[in-house]
Amino acid sequence: MGIVSNYVNEVRHEFLSQELSKKSVDPNPVKQLEKWIEEAVDSQVLEPNAMIVSTVDDKLQIPSSRVVYLRGIENNNLRFYTNYHSRKGAEIEEATSSNISVLFFYAELERQVRVEGTISRLSEEESDAYFNSRPIESKLGAWASEQSQEIESRQVLIDRLEMYKQKFGDEVPRPPHWGGYEIKPGNFEFWQGRPARLHDRIVYTKVEPDNSWEIKRIAP
Ligand SMILES: Cc1cc2nc3c(=O)[nH]c(=O)nc-3n(C[C@H](O)[C@H](O)[C@H](O)COP(=O)(O)O)c2cc1C
Repeated sequence: MGIVSNYVNEVRHEFLSQELSKKSVDPNPVKQLEKWIEEAVDSQVLEPNAMIVSTVDDKLQIPSSRVVYLRGIENNNLRFYTNYHSRKGAEIEEATSSNISVLFFYAELERQVRVEGTISRLSEEESDAYFNSRPIESKLGAWASEQSQEIESRQVLIDRLEMYKQKFGDEVPRPPHWGGYEIKPGNFEFWQGRPARLHDRIVYTKVEPDNSWEIKRIAP
């Protein structure tokens, strides 16, 4: 235990002393994000792949947030998987705008990354490919849980899981209401805690039409 926490502290301090500047960051913010995720893994933070996704209920104009796992970055787009009938799924599907907000927070490293972008569904084939890579318990769970709907008791879940286990055996198909989304980032902000509250904030803005990135520093 002592060895692990000493190691974590050493790594943490190494990153905390790193400055973030327009020159030191990667010109591609997705690469910079990947670097920070790798450093979060190296420094053994809890849940380095967790990100907070915020959606808005279009009719009520009420925002809501929840944690999901980043399950891959493909062609600079961030991917996660969920139930399309969940609260987030319904809000994404019914929204007139495809705008979305994502946040990564690494408390131990005093780092935060804000991402704003647009969201769209992954293809059925891509969702199948990811679903098929999951352990059987997770596959059955996707059928058993009508995510975000009211249930009478926990027993309902246990009974549904058993029912689908009997129904499918070893070959569990992807539920049609379960799959992936990908987020195409438009803006990023990397925040690094620094001494005396003089934190570093580096912002990337996508410049159309050539999709290059403009980088600037903003005040903490
Ligand atoms: C660390 C962590 C990772 C999670 N990963 C996912 C995920 O990848 N997909 C998902 O649907 N829910 C995930 N959840 C659960 C969500 O936070 C949330 O409870 C669920 O998706 C229902 O949200 P909604 O009612 O807003 O749709 C995760 C929760 C935590 C704490």
